[in-house]
Amino acid sequence: MALRGYFFVLVFVALASSAFSELSSHYYDYSCPKALSTIKTAVEAAVQKERRMGASLTRLHFHDCFVNGCDGSILLDSTSSIDSEKNSNANFQSARGFEVVDEIKQAVDEACGKPVVSCADILAVAARDSVVALGGPSWKVKLGRRDSTTASRAAADANIPAPFFSLSQLITNFRNHGLDEKDLVVLAGGHSIGYARCATFRAHIYNDSNIDPDFAKDLKYICPTAGADSNLSPLDSTAAQFDKNYYSNLVQKKGLLHSDQELFNGGSTDELVREYSYDSEDFYEDFAKSMIKMGNIQPLTGNQGEIRVNCRKVNQ
Ligand code: HEM
Ligand SMILES: *[C@@H]1O[C@H](CO)[C@@H](O)[C@H](O)[C@H]1NC(C)=O
Repeated sequence: MALRGYFFVLVFVALASSAFSELSSHYYDYSCPKALSTIKTAVEAAVQKERRMGASLTRLHFHDCFVNGCDGSILLDSTSSIDSEKNSNANFQSARGFEVVDEIKQAVDEACGKPVVSCADILAVAARDSVVALGGPSWKVKLGRRDSTTASRAAADANIPAPFFSLSQLITNFRNHGLDEKDLVVLAGGHSIGYARCATFRAHIYNDSNIDPDFAKDLKYICPTAGADSNLSPLDSTAAQFDKNYYSNLVQKKGLLHSDQELFNGGSTDELVREYSYDSEDFYEDFAKSMIKMGNIQPLTGNQGEIRVNCRKVNQ
């Protein structure tokens, strides 16, 4: 009897400790109660200075999570042993906000009195605070991710979806990250904010037929057939505001990227795009849920990885 009781205690402890290695929204309540307010203040200041920064920070969290999980790997600079994800196809001359992340990290470490908040968690919280600062929904960010000691440019190239992807490629890519079709459609609503370079939408405006002709014509002025690769265009008609216009634009065949318009092109996702184009409450609620789901992708927890002192470098 006693032995059996002992056995159950052991099983219980084993189950409980695996549960403890999951993320929790209260993770820093004791170790750094000021963590969340410090991040929020810094994000608000950065967005106040430049609205686009909210978009750039949101995208960093996405590109972090899609490459070997949400582990801060995107923030590591190249060294003799690290091939930085910053140089991958999707990120090179495109991913931005790294200086702001450095500022947030410094402010948080100072507020905590020691480096206890991971860079991966900073990205997750900064994404939420950015969306809120731009008028979007809020959600409780799960915390306790630890930082990787490695990064992989090859994994970034293999895992971050490209703007020339078809609907079926997008669905497969998201499924490979544990995200379903609904997650794809709602997370693509991240394109309610921010900008894209000509190089990423040129083929869509010159070669695709599922695009409003006047919209395409206007874009050709800022995006000629050659050159001007880095000229910017807003991803939706209200790029400084998080709203449902991304979806109403898609319904009008005014998606900027080929991959955006694929979500409303006669396929299985049309209906959901139409729904979000009417109903921002549904969009906001589902966006919050899917951001939490994306933030749960393969985190390092417990004694895996480390808490980086400098988000750009592995600890000495
Ligand atoms: C569905 C597949 C996706 C594809 C193919 C894609 C592709 C792209 C591309 C090509 C750009 C423009 C980059 C440049 O020209 O420098 C961009 C920007 C952006 N993406 Fe995505 N993206 C996808 C999903 C997402 C998701 C899930 C989010 C966030 C939840 C997101 C957030 C953003 C934001 C906020 C920007 C603007 C960044 C800025 O202005 O700095 N994207 N994306
Ligand atoms: C459009 O398609 C043609 C034929 O496939 C190709 O040669 C051309 O480079 C494409 N143009 C753009 C801007 O992608």
